[in-house]
Amino acid sequence: MQKLIDLISAEVSSAFEAAGYDAQYGKVTVSNRPDLGEYQCNGAMPAAKAYRKAPFMIANDVAAKLSGNPAFASVEAVNPGFLNLRMAPEFVSDYLNRMAEAERFGLEADPNPRTIVIDYGGPNVAKPLHVGHLRSAIIGESIKRIYRYFGNIVVGDIHMGDWGLQMGLIIAELRERKPDLPWFDEQKTEGFPEEAPFTISELEEIYPTASAKSKVDEEFAKKAHEATYQLQHGQPGHLALWKHIMAVSVADLRKNYDNLDVSFDAWYGESDSDAYIPAMLEDLKAKQLLTESNGALVIEVAEETDKKEIPPCIIVKSDGATLYATTDLATMVQREELWKPDKILYIVDKRQSLHFEQVFRAARKAGIVRPETELQHIGFGTMNGKDGKPFKTREGGVMRLERLIREITEFVTEKVKENQIVSGDAVEETSRLIAMAALKYGDLSNLATKDYIFDMDRFAAFEGNTGPYILYTIVRVKSILSRYGKEIGAIRPAQSAPEKDLMLAISRFADNLQLAYRDSAPNVICAYIYELAGAVNKFYHETRILSEEDEEKKSGYIALIALAKRVLEACIGLLGFAAPEKM
Ligand code: ARG
Repeated sequence: MQKLIDLISAEVSSAFEAAGYDAQYGKVTVSNRPDLGEYQCNGAMPAAKAYRKAPFMIANDVAAKLSGNPAFASVEAVNPGFLNLRMAPEFVSDYLNRMAEAERFGLEADPNPRTIVIDYGGPNVAKPLHVGHLRSAIIGESIKRIYRYFGNIVVGDIHMGDWGLQMGLIIAELRERKPDLPWFDEQKTEGFPEEAPFTISELEEIYPTASAKSKVDEEFAKKAHEATYQLQHGQPGHLALWKHIMAVSVADLRKNYDNLDVSFDAWYGESDSDAYIPAMLEDLKAKQLLTESNGALVIEVAEETDKKEIPPCIIVKSDGATLYATTDLATMVQREELWKPDKILYIVDKRQSLHFEQVFRAARKAGIVRPETELQHIGFGTMNGKDGKPFKTREGGVMRLERLIREITEFVTEKVKENQIVSGDAVEETSRLIAMAALKYGDLSNLATKDYIFDMDRFAAFEGNTGPYILYTIVRVKSILSRYGKEIGAIRPAQSAPEKDLMLAISRFADNLQLAYRDSAPNVICAYIYELAGAVNKFYHETRILSEEDEEKKSGYIALIALAKRVLEACIGLLGFAAPEKM
């Protein structure tokens, strides 16, 4: 379906043509003076230059051609040459009725759908998820849903940090604590116990201990490196133990992401890229891209046009170990083999932007991705506390994601109980949904690249620019619809300003979604639904809906808010949360 604004532009363009001017001047925008018009066309100004004529005269000519056009209620040429347009109520209600019937409200899918891998989540195995992982999960999930909505084939890949030194540290620490475990018996190559020798809580305690120890205890650090080496070279005991670490950790990760309504299509990790490394290194050597630098093998990626220095991308360290960049490059080889993506999008903390710049350049130089493959890193900012510093627990420690979710859910539950929003069985699920909306909207309503301040009171408020406010609006409509109880009919031409404003707000769904899609920017959807929810509430406050005596009018009102609700629900679905039944 064409966008309403394009239909209007088409009418105005024809009028320019009919008046003897080029059609290109007929482009229409949403009015920045809503008191004067709903849409405006400024084309007479540039046309004036081209035709050496006063802009007002041109605007007048065009207005004359538009008079009697059924799309418009009024067309006014004003000084110095603007055209102010108000739409005919029938034109708008017809459009909305078509939206209501159309798939995706008439939004057109991308005519050139692509295969897109989104690399998000990025948790580290055996380390608790912390708030830093929250943003990647929330933003990635939303962008994934938006891309899919436009008809792309999207693979969400979690890309776990499950290889390298962090694993060696855990294994080394376990060995110090329990040297007699069968996994450490170097003679043994098979028949290891099926049961893991630790729980997730033990695992999560082991890692920080080991990591801290390795910084002060050189002997231990050496052991950790040795364990990493053994693991990466397939020593059976180490590998078997690693599999236990993976199983225990992945089960816990799944639970956490489920709680967030975040899901992945692929659960690959850095370890899965390992198999691709030897051939990749051979290839890099053959292409003579590897240079030696202090014993390490690097790919030079600096370019003449660089404003700041881009250091070489280190591929193999002097001790033979591979690094983060190596696994990221090898993962591209893997993705190319599995999915042949047209685009790979990384949703990772902006502090890693240099890493991605280096890796992208290396990948291009080496031909690891096809020249037409788009590589993009969306580097998100930090979630800060009210003190403007990275968000911490009250005690000053790293905030675990689980705890953050629990705290915000408890906070919302209190409110739900106190205000008797729902009762009994409904309290838990309703509170969960509200908490998710608070958390996700609080994050997504900011430009991803910006830092933001996590403020529970503000995020969870039922009023203002918040997730719960959007839910509240949806629930309000749900309740009216259920009290109405009859089938939903057609939307009727608007009779009041709030009604028409609501209609026009709904009609701008596709415009906003296209922007959000183009810029991979969920914040555009947030801004749109905040405006739309405002229009719904204004209409609600200024209109007697259920008590309207004229049944036809009433049914038109109901159809209108029903469509608004569906649009709002589709939008929050794209943001990754959902509304409760009552609130
Ligand atoms: N595990 C990494 C971290 O916690 C994030 C991984 C991001 N993805 C990637 N392909 N490098 O910092």
